[in-house]
Parts: sequence; C-alpha cells; structure tokens
Amino acid sequence: MFPGYFRRDTLRPPQYILVRMHPSARTAISRDGFSRPVRHMLDRGLLTRDRSFFDYGCGRGDDVSGLRALDFDADGWDPNHRPEAQRRGADIVNLGYVLNVIDNPAERATALREAWNLTLAVLAVRVLTTADRTADALTPWRDGFRTSRGTFQKYFDGDELMAFVDRTLGVPCVPVDPAHVLVFRDAQLEQAYLDFEPDGNHGLLSRGFEHPDRIAKRRVEFERVRAERPETAAGIARHLLRFGTVPDEEDMQEVSAIAEYGLRAREFCAALIASIGEDAWQTQLQRIHTRLLKSLALAHFRRTPKASDFDSRTKRAFRVHFGSFHEAVKLSLQELHKVGQPDVIETVCAQYGGGMLDEQALYVVQDDRPRLPLVLQLYVELGRLFYGELDDVDQFKIHKRSGKLTLLFYENFEERGTEQLQQRVKIDFRTRRMWVFGYDR
Ligand SMILES: C[S@@+](CC[C@H](N)C(=O)[O-])C[C@H]1O[C@@H](n2cnc3c(N)ncnc32)[C@H](O)[C@@H]1O
Repeated sequence: MFPGYFRRDTLRPPQYILVRMHPSARTAISRDGFSRPVRHMLDRGLLTRDRSFFDYGCGRGDDVSGLRALDFDADGWDPNHRPEAQRRGADIVNLGYVLNVIDNPAERATALREAWNLTLAVLAVRVLTTADRTADALTPWRDGFRTSRGTFQKYFDGDELMAFVDRTLGVPCVPVDPAHVLVFRDAQLEQAYLDFEPDGNHGLLSRGFEHPDRIAKRRVEFERVRAERPETAAGIARHLLRFGTVPDEEDMQEVSAIAEYGLRAREFCAALIASIGEDAWQTQLQRIHTRLLKSLALAHFRRTPKASDFDSRTKRAFRVHFGSFHEAVKLSLQELHKVGQPDVIETVCAQYGGGMLDEQALYVVQDDRPRLPLVLQLYVELGRLFYGELDDVDQFKIHKRSGKLTLLFYENFEERGTEQLQQRVKIDFRTRRMWVFGYDR
C-alpha cells in the first residue's frame, strides 16, 4: 500500500534496509541542527551532560546523534525508524513533532502517556500549530488533514496542546509557546527553569551546544560570504567587534544579503566568534563593556547622561550588555566613585600585571590605555579634563595613593635607551591644580 523506501538508521552503524513503513515515517526530516525543543532545553540549561536524554519518536535520530557527538547521554526510539531500540527512562524526554502526525486521538494520548512514563525530570512536547499550515494541498481527515504526500498532520489551535497535555497526564504543564509545553516531574528543576534569566546577549555567547553538522555547514557558508561578499562580511564583523551585538537591517542594510547563503546575521556572528576563538572574543567583549561604561562615566562630567544622547546601536549595546540603560548608568557611577578611593587605585595598580610598578606609582604607555582596567582608564581620562587631548603623551604615571597623575612627553620614546624627557605635566585631582615642567633646555 505504501511505497517501500530505504531507511538509514543514523544511530547504528550505517546500514540500509528496505522496509515498508507507516506514512508517518515520511514526516521525519533530516536536520543539520538541533530541533527547536532540544535547542530550547540546551539554551535554558535544562539539557546538560549530567542529565540523560531520551527522544520518543526520534525520527531519523539527528537530535540524538548530535547530542552523542557532544558527549551527552542520549538515546531514542521511533516506531518506524528505530523500532528495535529499548524505550528507556531518562531525566529528559522529548516528544518532538510526534503528536501532530498521529491521526488517532486515542493513540495520540497513548504516545503522550508512554513518553511521560519514561520521564524522570521533564518532558518536552512540541507540535505544529495552525500558524505552521502550509499552502500545500490539504484534505480534511479526522481531526486534521492528509497532505499531498499521504501523511497526516494535525495543526493544534490556540491552547489546544496545553489542554490536551493537562487532561491526558493530569499534571499542569508549563507553556513555552502555543506549540510547545514542558511537563515537570522535578519541582526544583521547574523552579530553576522559571527563574532562568537570559544572558542579555540573545544567546550569542552562551550558545554552548550546537549540532556539529550545523556548525560545519555554517562554517562553509560563512567562508562563502567572506569570499563572495567581503564588504558585507567586514561590515558585520566591524559592528560585532565594536558593539558586541548582532547587527540588524536597521544597523546596516547589507545584513539581508547574507540570507541568500542560508545564514542569519546571528549565525554569521557565531561563526566569526568561532573563527577568532572564544578567548579572544571574551577579551574583546571585556573591552566593549569597558568602552561603553567609560563613555557613560565621562558623560557625567558634562551632565547626567540620557539614553537619547546615544545613537541606536550604542543604546542597544547598553541594553544587551547591562540589561538596561539605567543599569549601565548605575554601574558607570560605581566605577567613577572608585577613582577617588586610594585603596582601590592601589589594589588595581598592583593587580594590573602590565606596565611598570614602583613604590609610588604605576607607569603605563599610550598603547596600554585601552587594555587598562576601567577604573584606571577613568583615572587617566580625568587628566584630559585638565590638560586636554592625551594622544601625544608617551607615558602616564598613575600615582597609587596621592590622587595625582603625571603625563610624560619624551623625545625618541620609541627607541629605548635614547629617549629624552621633554615635558612633565603633573595634575593633582584633589587640589585641582596642574604644573607643567619643560626639560628641553
Ligand atoms: C515529524 S517526525 C519527528 C521526528 C523527530 N522527533 C524530529 O523532531 O525530528 C514524527 C515522527 O513520529 C513518529 N511516530 C509516529 N507515530 C508515533 C507514535 N505513536 N509514537 C511515537 N512516535 C511516532 C514517526 O515515525 C516520525 O518519525
């Protein structure tokens, strides 16, 4: 009745077996990334390496094989694609896009109950909803439709999924969205899930686990964009490295051009971060945070900063990195207050690890400025309010306890051993006085 076709069991050594299968078998697609319910559990910290995972109705098993490749304890069963597997209990059970392919409501309830019986901590259920209906020719069938491929699809409507799960299991579920619910057996895990706070950077940094196939495919597309659209690639990279955020079309029009390569700006940025290395990216992020807070802290010297003083990209960066503009202002003020505390300045100078430290002061050169801890950058920047532009200063002497800053200007500073001190400017922040000493005669 149904055409026979080849089945590739991705969870076992490759073997091709010709079998006749139920039409719902044909609903299982091959993925190069984790499915949405699995991604959600990874992003929200539910699915971790110390929790076992079982995929009930795993289809071709790409979620399971991807998790296994990342050393997760993962397994799965599917009546069509992996019928011989053991249905075993696990901390996390996934019933992803299964209920919507079953045309018999009683069988649907049985599948849900069986998945729940295997669940030790949390069950994830995801289905298709009316929002997923395609323009495909659909013939009404039972409480859903037959598709042109002869498969069945039920599109859940409104709160239908929640009501079905609550009614069938007798346990209130936690909605993720109308297509997706979680049912917890473990109350602590449920509380932790509800208390979860995003990292503020749209998952860009915390996306710890990605399907290896997806990463590989993305790398290929990323390289293609770089080769074929170097200006777009450079523009996105500049934005990411300056603001630490993913640009959208409002930030730069060319962003949409990478969609042709099947990439979203977020994915391009993730591939870029992977190419520069996580450590280098963390250092860059630290610099971005410092730069943003510095600009806010210094703005206080003119007037109380307002969000409207900043362009839209900077405003978004404040929100993404610090939660809100208001929170960023609070942090910048805290840093500014530290500048007036000798104990803090002394400790930070000692911890810095660069420059030259003596009893009295830390000496740093122009190139060190962007790398200094924020409080020392602000200390040096205060000098600007007295002296003016600091770009020609060769060396800064940060006095550890006396609230002074000395600017040193040399002849031949680049050539060690031949440098000649030309000018010394001493600024006393406490008395608000400045002295200039010339040495050229
Ligand atoms: C759309 S696929 C989803 C596969 C996989 N969970 C994923 O997200 O890629 C639906 C799967 O449900 C399976 N299925 C059909 N009836 C089932 C039942 N009663 N219990 C468990 N799985 C079933 C099919 O064999 C098919 O592989």
